[in-house]
Amino acid sequence: MAEILRLENLVVRFGGKAGVNAVDDISLSIGRGETLALVGESGCGKSTLARAMMRVQKVASGSIVFDGEDITHLSERALRPIRRRMQMIFQDPFASLDPLVSIGNSILEPRRAFSLPAGDDELDELMTTVGLAAEYRTRKPGRLSGGQRQRVGIARALSVEPELVVADEPVSSLDVSMQAQILNLLKRSSRTRGIALLFISHDLRAVRFLADRVAVMEKGKIVETGTTEEILDHARHPFTQRLIAAMPQINSERTLPAQS
Ligand SMILES: Nc1ncnc2c1ncn2[C@@H]1O[C@H](COP(=O)(O)OP(=O)(O)O)[C@@H](O)[C@H]1O
Ligand SMILES: [Mg+2]
Repeated sequence: MAEILRLENLVVRFGGKAGVNAVDDISLSIGRGETLALVGESGCGKSTLARAMMRVQKVASGSIVFDGEDITHLSERALRPIRRRMQMIFQDPFASLDPLVSIGNSILEPRRAFSLPAGDDELDELMTTVGLAAEYRTRKPGRLSGGQRQRVGIARALSVEPELVVADEPVSSLDVSMQAQILNLLKRSSRTRGIALLFISHDLRAVRFLADRVAVMEKGKIVETGTTEEILDHARHPFTQRLIAAMPQINSERTLPAQS
């Protein structure tokens, strides 16, 4: 499979010389159209890794290669076109939306920022894709539920036709039935558009449902990678085995308990 993103020996350090490596010599690749899950305990460095690969977190050493181009040290100006091609979906959709901007303008804003056509047709298509009724276009985010706000976040990310989307715990602030709907939406939209997805989660059921491959992170390092079946059903590393043992409810079916 052709790679969309490759990390080589990436290191992110907090606290200078006496500090710690939050990302500690990580090498990882994501194929075009592939969904890679990144799992690990809270604080192990998942968000820091995601921010580093998006070039919003300074790296100490190593490299980030996007579609064959080393982007590790590109200037902000040179990064512009790459920024369109890799998008992020955040855990807290409320914090990432401007409370004063209507849903319609919020969804179209990334397209405008990249000088792409941003009219009614584009908005209708995006709102339909993420399952938001047309009447929401004039509303402010404060009048939406958490799930609806996350749909807006997904529409914003999809709006600029990215090739890679990083979703950092995109459903952990939502209730269980809403989680299933949003995971379905992520799966459907990434598959139909051929988007590579880095799905960060500590919910192994969601990982089973979405991911082609899984990378397991512990204290800044990737300890194991493999296909979803290899990792969830035949984990080799003791840390992965402990993670799975802590979630006994994961079964072998690629469905979600609360799927609607
Ligand atoms: N801006 C920062 N400055 C200093 N330490 C940080 C910063 N961001 C994260 N960390 C630390 O880096 C480690 C990894 O954090 P994080 O990437 O948020 O983990 P995760 O997303 O897996 O929960 C934690 O110990 C956290 O406290
Ligand atoms: Mg995190």
